[in-house]
Amino acid sequence: VTYGDQPLRRGQGGETHQIAEDGYDVLTTQQGIPVADDQNSLKQGARGPTLLEDAHFREKIFHFDHERIPERVVHARGYGAHGFFETYKSLSKLTRADIFQREGEQTPVFVRFSTVAGSKGSFDLARDVRGFAVKFYTREGNWDLVGNNIPVFFIQDAIKFPDIIHSVKPEPDKAFPQAQSAHDNFWDFISLTPESMHMIMWVMSDRAIPRSFRFMQGFGVHTFRLVDGKGASNFVKFIWKPKLGMQSVLWNEAVKINGADPDFHRRDLWSAIQTGNFPEWELCLQVFDQDFADSFDFDVLDPTKLIPEELLPAQPVGRLVLDRMPENFFAETEQVAFMTQNVPPGIEFSNDPLLQGRNFSYLDTQLKRLGSPNFAQLPINAPKCPFHHLQQDGHMAIQNPRGRANYEPNSWGPDIGGPRESREQGFETFPQEPEGPKVRLRPESFGDHYSQARQFFISQSLIEQRHIGDALVFELSKCEFPAIRERMVGHLRNIDADLAQTVADGLGLKTLPPAAPPNQKPRTDLPP
Ligand code: HEM
Repeated sequence: VTYGDQPLRRGQGGETHQIAEDGYDVLTTQQGIPVADDQNSLKQGARGPTLLEDAHFREKIFHFDHERIPERVVHARGYGAHGFFETYKSLSKLTRADIFQREGEQTPVFVRFSTVAGSKGSFDLARDVRGFAVKFYTREGNWDLVGNNIPVFFIQDAIKFPDIIHSVKPEPDKAFPQAQSAHDNFWDFISLTPESMHMIMWVMSDRAIPRSFRFMQGFGVHTFRLVDGKGASNFVKFIWKPKLGMQSVLWNEAVKINGADPDFHRRDLWSAIQTGNFPEWELCLQVFDQDFADSFDFDVLDPTKLIPEELLPAQPVGRLVLDRMPENFFAETEQVAFMTQNVPPGIEFSNDPLLQGRNFSYLDTQLKRLGSPNFAQLPINAPKCPFHHLQQDGHMAIQNPRGRANYEPNSWGPDIGGPRESREQGFETFPQEPEGPKVRLRPESFGDHYSQARQFFISQSLIEQRHIGDALVFELSKCEFPAIRERMVGHLRNIDADLAQTVADGLGLKTLPPAAPPNQKPRTDLPP
């Protein structure tokens, strides 16, 4: 550590400063004033009142009082690690994204795994979706692939996100149950939202109680676009596959682990990385064009659907290795700000209405959580490539533009004139043609809510199917209102008759409730 070109600990005469006789750094205030006594506040007499004059005491308590920031509104509990992504081959024919141009190239990454519903201090083995968020620090800016360990989602349109999250969080009057979906509000919303049925099958399966983060898949969920150097585009789905394979625990194990060690998943990742067992995942791509997309009954813009790998195998294109824990949990894991809208040239969005809503939400929520429009200047969020912009000031601005110019165009030369736009290198949006009038409608192609739920259920082994039935019985048995249970069984009848009967029996229903209307049509009519 230096002060100017002098070592911080040496004074001008060569004498040591801020270092005690025993070799420890001297404790200082934030202003660097050395502290003589950190055990006693300054008082008028040993038994007298504390003095306002005690700047060290006041600074210490003031800072402590302001230590907390809001926890994430969702995915509050998480754990992160550093690592790298390494390409297997060049994908230059598919995308101009710099990260995919050269075989064997490594890009630094930060990954945060999380649960969705619980608060920051909740337990790790809740039955829940897991977040799988990756920040790639590429040479053309940060790319955030903010995914989950389940390939589909509960809702088709981001306007429903506050509703699904309110319903799964603790009930507003009771403030419980915490960190679990087993309650009336959640199942009420789900039973009134048939589009969630595919996701519900996954959430009731063993996928939602993973053995550890190291044994989970990850999914970008939405259809994205890859754009090549000539402007041609394909659609893509991103999938992470763990080299260790997938493992889950049993529900009974999850309940015991939560009681005995609520940090089970954190401890697992920490221990694995600290002992050199670096977890690895392969990034696999499903790439397809518009004709292929048009060949399905469902819509590739619908985030409640996946593209079966039997129809389109996912091709491995690189590996992710996590090999370093953060030095400080708060500075890195807590302050990392993932945002779906962070995409480099060559990777773009589709019109998936859930993704489009997310692209607004993440920037907005980071400002609320991190408190300053300069959160991108925090080391964990800052790009690792050169970056130059003209944004300035605001709370905690530490990297204001240099030189004379904080606007452009300007007349000044490169030394003081600031950055210039580049048609050659810059991000050019794929010029997708707009479709139809401005309306609040869903396309009919978003209308089938049961086929893929059924496909998922029957793709499971018998024991896994039994776990789904057990989970549904357990969860729905926590619902006090019979109508909610019955509505859910009505949906299950459209997915699998045996599953519906098992759940009805498990819930003690005397008669099987009527099946939900098959594939309720979304509102597709134009207003008069
Ligand atoms: C946080 C994934 C849908 C809003 C997160 C995180 C993940 C994630 C992984 C945690 C990031 C971290 O570790 O810091 C997903 C996936 C979705 C989805 C895969 C659907 C496919 C949505 C939607 C919205 C939304 C539709 C809103 C319209 C948020 C917010 C946060 C968050 C506000 C908190 C961010 C923070 O404070 O850092 N999401 N999400 N998400 N998500 Fe989503």
